[in-house]
Amino acid sequence: MKKIITYGTYDLLHYGHVNLLRRAKELGDYLIVAISTDDFNWNEKQKKCYFPYEDRKRLVEAVRYVDLVIPEKAWNQKVSDIKEFKVDTFVMGDDWEGKFDFLREYCEVVYLPRTPEISTTQIKKDLKE
Ligand code: CTP
Repeated sequence: MKKIITYGTYDLLHYGHVNLLRRAKELGDYLIVAISTDDFNWNEKQKKCYFPYEDRKRLVEAVRYVDLVIPEKAWNQKVSDIKEFKVDTFVMGDDWEGKFDFLREYCEVVYLPRTPEISTTQIKKDLKE
């Protein structure tokens, strides 16, 4: 069984997220999504989420392509996650192109093109206007 892992915040789940998850799942058989916890988002990314972690987790779990959601609590957990879950392929959107090439030592690394013209930041901005 080919296992895929991807990481992200997944706040205000939108069709760009679902497109990414669908294409990630197509690369294998079992998709793990590591979702940033509220503390990780705030302390490391200076992002405050609209939906708390448990709600973001439930939403992503409801996506048919997703087999398992785990918490992302630190930048440096990727290698241990890859080893623990015996991951074959690490996937991210191409806004992260090149940033995780160091993981090629442990598994395949794939960057998928982002869906144009949609992001959580954009939704928040549009709703304010
Ligand atoms: N993603 C994508 N296409 C989009 C938006 C996001 O493929 N239009 C992907 C990202 O590349 C990442 C995953 O979805 O692999 C989760 O991204 P996340 O940062 O949570 O979503 P964004 O909408 O980019 O959120 P933000 O605006 O807060 O950065």
